[in-house]
Amino acid sequence: MLIIAHRGLSGDYPENTILSFRKAVEFEIPMIELDITLSSDLVPVVIHDDSLDRTTSGSGLVREKEISELKSLDAGVWFHKDFIGERIPTLDEVLTLIKDSETDLNIEIKSGDYDLREIERIALSLVEKYALVDRVVFSSFDKEILVKLRKLSPKLNLAYLIENEVDSIELIKFYEDFGLSSINISKELVGTELHKKIYDLNLPVLVYTINHFEEYYELQKWNIKGIFTNYATYFQEIIS
Ligand code: G3P
Ligand code: MG
Repeated sequence: MLIIAHRGLSGDYPENTILSFRKAVEFEIPMIELDITLSSDLVPVVIHDDSLDRTTSGSGLVREKEISELKSLDAGVWFHKDFIGERIPTLDEVLTLIKDSETDLNIEIKSGDYDLREIERIALSLVEKYALVDRVVFSSFDKEILVKLRKLSPKLNLAYLIENEVDSIELIKFYEDFGLSSINISKELVGTELHKKIYDLNLPVLVYTINHFEEYYELQKWNIKGIFTNYATYFQEIIS
């Protein structure tokens, strides 16, 4: 089963920081997941929320700030004072980190309920700059983002994220038409009618976010391809 470090080793280090990613690389976790959005001057930055308030010393919307301001913020101290000085990473910095490692990358692009100013094209060109297309999966809850990515590149790895039950026929058609590498479902969807249909067709499924052994144990009967977890080192150890 593929173990994916959700926002890096985010159970032990501040999520979506270079520290949480570097630790995942050091522990040879096979894949890191992170979330990107754009600064106001169009730099892809790694942060989960639209807003700066929860995970940084700043406030307001990420997309309204220039990269210079975002880089001045602390992104570690909210988690623990030991991590003061961590910054919001750029996607470029993370690609530099993983380039010569054994760790692949899942880049989640957050929902496009605002003008994303071509985040897909900008992010893809960075991945291409580092020649990492084969080692990257792009994922999104937003179908339109995946459609745009597929138009940009026929060979990109794409995964569709779902958190609620959706029409299974439409989902399977989307999976086939767009050549997805997996369907990534929330743990709440495991065992639902929708999941059973995907399972019967033997489609590749990843589940987020599995942080407890009991949750992992429950997945054993479902032929799951991988899990996203905040505790990737723990699961790597029990699986090996
Ligand atoms: O990609 C899996 C997971 O990251 C999706 O949800 O909200 O943690 O980005 P979220
Ligand atoms: Mg995510």
